[in-house]
Amino acid sequence: MVIFGASGDLTVRKLIPGLYELYGRGLLPDRFAVLGAGRTAMSDEKFRATMAAALAEDTGDRPRADRDRFLGALYYQQLDPTAAAAYGTLGERLSAVASEAGTGGNVLYYLATPPSSFEPIAGGLAAAGLAEERGGAWRRLIVEKPFGYDLQSARALNERLHAWFGERQIYRIDHYLGKETVQNVLVLRFANEVWEPLWTRATIDRVEVTAAEQVGVEGRGGYYDGSGALRDMFQNHLLQVVGMIAMEPPAHFRPSAVRNETVKVFDSLRPILPAQVAEDVVRGQYTGSLTTEGAMAGYREEPGVPAGSRTETYVALRFHIDNRRWAGVPFLVRTGKRLPARVTEVVIHFKQVPHHLFGMPPADLISGALDTGAASGHAVSAAAAEASKLIIRIQPDEAIQLRCNVKLPGAGFDVQQVGMDFRYADLADTYLPDAYERLLLDGITGDATLYARADAIESCWEFVQPVLKAWREHPGIPLHGYPAGSWGPAAAASLFRRPGYGWRTPAPSLIDTGGHVVM
Ligand code: BG6
Repeated sequence: MVIFGASGDLTVRKLIPGLYELYGRGLLPDRFAVLGAGRTAMSDEKFRATMAAALAEDTGDRPRADRDRFLGALYYQQLDPTAAAAYGTLGERLSAVASEAGTGGNVLYYLATPPSSFEPIAGGLAAAGLAEERGGAWRRLIVEKPFGYDLQSARALNERLHAWFGERQIYRIDHYLGKETVQNVLVLRFANEVWEPLWTRATIDRVEVTAAEQVGVEGRGGYYDGSGALRDMFQNHLLQVVGMIAMEPPAHFRPSAVRNETVKVFDSLRPILPAQVAEDVVRGQYTGSLTTEGAMAGYREEPGVPAGSRTETYVALRFHIDNRRWAGVPFLVRTGKRLPARVTEVVIHFKQVPHHLFGMPPADLISGALDTGAASGHAVSAAAAEASKLIIRIQPDEAIQLRCNVKLPGAGFDVQQVGMDFRYADLADTYLPDAYERLLLDGITGDATLYARADAIESCWEFVQPVLKAWREHPGIPLHGYPAGSWGPAAAASLFRRPGYGWRTPAPSLIDTGGHVVM
């Protein structure tokens, strides 16, 4: 495996620890080596020492010698990605490392660099003959995010990459697809006969997705300011999650079949017309605030962020999927930084029962206001008005919970909503691999199911493009301030379009607290 951007943050935080975990679990091939490449000058020893620091000192129940063997399989090559000659040198080094490690010529290239280096590297590799698959050996290219900045640049990048690598060789990573709970959506839906008949417009009222982050821009102000929540989280991660929720059952579980189905979803997204952007999309930016945890800086005070920045750190959208299954079912999706908790969840809100039998006092007892019910011994429970819901907690405290109404013990027929749940923590093997770990392994074994295909990426960009355009061309579309540590702009509730409806406030832990449900 060749990692470009080897001295960068992603390599240290995700790639090397992920590979080490795979190695420790016996999932890496016996003959395996990593060649790190980057601008920084470094010896193999220095690279190993730097990566060793990224691994936990404590090897747990694994022998120390294993850790040393893993580190011994790491090599480093200095490389200026823009210098054509550098790839000849890289090729020679790669051959030397490959014959030392006995890898047989299979190579996985990983572009863990800023996007400006994607094209020079892919082109450089191809020009030096390093993209070519010879003698049964494979060559694959994993491309990090962001994949494009808008529709045009994403298309251009796909075109360029296709000039050098076949689509079959290209793996565009979206780490949300590597999350266990996101993959579990497929199993939950397609390995149980109980859900699928309910998974339609006939029973579902709306689908709500929240990806809340407690962190701010964490020193990435420079990058983030050129991106914003719509590009950074929605166009890629959240639309991929929507793809999993909304797709039709594939005919078989092969990459092409699964990816065909998600692309159909993206192609069915109803375009948000320019005139509707102000109504269907709410954007916000966090402002400085004083919370119980102390003072929190506003986005414009973050390092690297211009004082007058109009980049959104929060976005909420209402949209539709125009196909038979989802006709008339709104999807409400929001994401933001500096919200009160780190929580990502999908809520399938089922419809209200068409006729409320319970929680209503018998007609002959109704005299004036409904709240006289309690006095007459027939408590009018607010919960009686709640519809059932299925909550898929993607992180943290990964879980699935069905919330439905039951009778409260005792006299009368008072109703309360309770949760029936499954927690990953309750499984016998509670090890949840990091998303990168799963995706790296899939890249090595050549399974592209959980990687985004060229057409999927373009289709997702096509959907967000009118929003980006409207924001650019109509600065009058409000950018709402919201205090850091709050649930975002109040204006986002308007997307529900129904009095009394709003965003669910996710509890920090889905199950322990019984879920605090807001209609
Ligand atoms: C990244 C974004 O792709 O995803 C970050 O660039 C964001 O801004 C992160 O914080 C969220 O990932 P996770 O796995 O922490 O939900």
